[in-house]
Amino acid sequence: MATQDKINELIQKRAEARLGGGEKRIDSQHAKGKLTARERIEILLDEDSFEEFDMFVTHRTKSFGLDKEQYLSDGVVTGHGTIDGRIVYVFSQDFTVFGGSLSETYALKICKIMDMAMRMGAPVIGLNDSGGARIQEGVRSLAGYAEIFQRNIMASGLIPQISSILGPCAGGAVYSPALTDFTIMTEQTSYMFVTGPKVVQAVTGEVVTTEQLGGATIHSTKSGVSHFLAENDEVNLMLIRKLLSYMPSNNLEDPPMVPTSDPIDRLDDILNTIIPENPNQAYDVLDIITTITDNGEFLEVHRNYAKNIVVGFARFNGKSVGIVANQPKYYAGVLDCEASRKAARFVRYCDAFNIPLVTLVDVPGFLPGTGQEYAGIILHGAKLLFAYGEATVPKVTITLRKSYGGAHDVMSCKQLRGDLNYAWPSAEIAVMGAKGAVEVLEGSNIRKIEDADEKSQYILEKENEYTAKFANPYVAAKYGFIDDVIEPRNTRFRIVRALELLANKKETNPPKKHANIPL
Ligand code: HXC
Repeated sequence: MATQDKINELIQKRAEARLGGGEKRIDSQHAKGKLTARERIEILLDEDSFEEFDMFVTHRTKSFGLDKEQYLSDGVVTGHGTIDGRIVYVFSQDFTVFGGSLSETYALKICKIMDMAMRMGAPVIGLNDSGGARIQEGVRSLAGYAEIFQRNIMASGLIPQISSILGPCAGGAVYSPALTDFTIMTEQTSYMFVTGPKVVQAVTGEVVTTEQLGGATIHSTKSGVSHFLAENDEVNLMLIRKLLSYMPSNNLEDPPMVPTSDPIDRLDDILNTIIPENPNQAYDVLDIITTITDNGEFLEVHRNYAKNIVVGFARFNGKSVGIVANQPKYYAGVLDCEASRKAARFVRYCDAFNIPLVTLVDVPGFLPGTGQEYAGIILHGAKLLFAYGEATVPKVTITLRKSYGGAHDVMSCKQLRGDLNYAWPSAEIAVMGAKGAVEVLEGSNIRKIEDADEKSQYILEKENEYTAKFANPYVAAKYGFIDDVIEPRNTRFRIVRALELLANKKETNPPKKHANIPL
């Protein structure tokens, strides 16, 4: 064959591979409102930065007549490219080839880029759209999944791993995204479940739709499996880019600096009046967050799940931080099982990837009752406590208003190695609120009073007494548990300066195989 013919053969093979399962199936993918595997990569990566590996791989199965049905790339597109100039590895499942189902060779392709990403210290991004294990390959497909899972586990805490769900993701296949750091689901076109609606009906009799069982909305609101909800594939992919901008490429690097023209010492007078006079009145902690961060930007994670706590990424003077904030607007910002678990996972992510933590506290306590106790609030609350206590990244805590009881300790207090703990003058730091405290301390005196008016007068007096004595930041400040009481409008500057002070912090935990976080 002449050299030019050989080159033509290569060009022709590449063109064939790019067609995946063929025009008809590409049209059907588009008709569903979905992009193809390669179109997704184009949108995700910097222009012309993608280099594909293993384009000529095909499966090795002969049974079920598969030897006559071969597609170059075998249903998954893998390779590397850049996002904002930084290297990332990517795999994109191609639904047009056997429904994106996973074969042995397909798994090997994914494992190859995961191994390279770990060696090079670069993130792995998985674009999922697959019918699961390739049925014709049987246990070899299951083994392929397990090979990927094992790598997900080894890569955890070493390099960021992000999963987009852009179509079906069912059966054991769901566990690879679940092992990664962040999952982004597209509305209407994506779903995740361990068993589908038909099996659910056969086993339990429950009739449920795909969307109800494992749609993007369900996983973003009820289960917390998905961290972000995207309107369509394009929004989903752009979210990956944004998310990565707050992260380092691996655990040995710091997150990238994004210089800002937002003055570090701007005074935000609005903050001096943002806390309502009535301690039981709610406000939106997002208003505080977007007032103090660079350019008012905040990438909220788990926005629709466990809304009584807010977590997400922002920057102060160009430096990435993870923000954790109780949200008085929902359930008074109380800590419950879901909020504790949500925040604990986020704190551990930030700690693994050298992202300092800024915690804004306004928490009345843990949610009481059998519902929470039976659901294991003791263990879930302990997760958050554990995560903060284990974290060695810089930790800056600002108590805005309430900080009561066990929840005070959990929310990055001084003794959990909080580096700088500030409070606003509106802070109330105590074992419990006035009402509860008076009931416990004055119970026998209150019971002795027979006249109802006299009784309520006595209770009110005692509550006011308690509030005056304990519902302030100065008792904690007296003991050095609060480093300073700061004027609210100066909060941005105090955080910027705290982070500068802590930039070279070195703290390590004692050597051990691994800790035993209460799971
Ligand atoms: C082989 C598959 C396949 C699979 C789909 N296809 N899933 N081929 N193995 N798992 C093929 C179809 O035969 C079809 O081929 C093409 O992909 C598109 O599928 P359709 O059914 O036409 O598409 P759609 O109507 O959109 O339905 C998509 C689907 C459905 C909901 C995903 O295909 C489906 O239910 N597939 C089976 C899912 C499943 O049970 N997988 C195993 C789960 S267990 P043609 O040639 O017509 O285009 C599992 C275990 C993992 O995954 C364990 C890991 C530990």
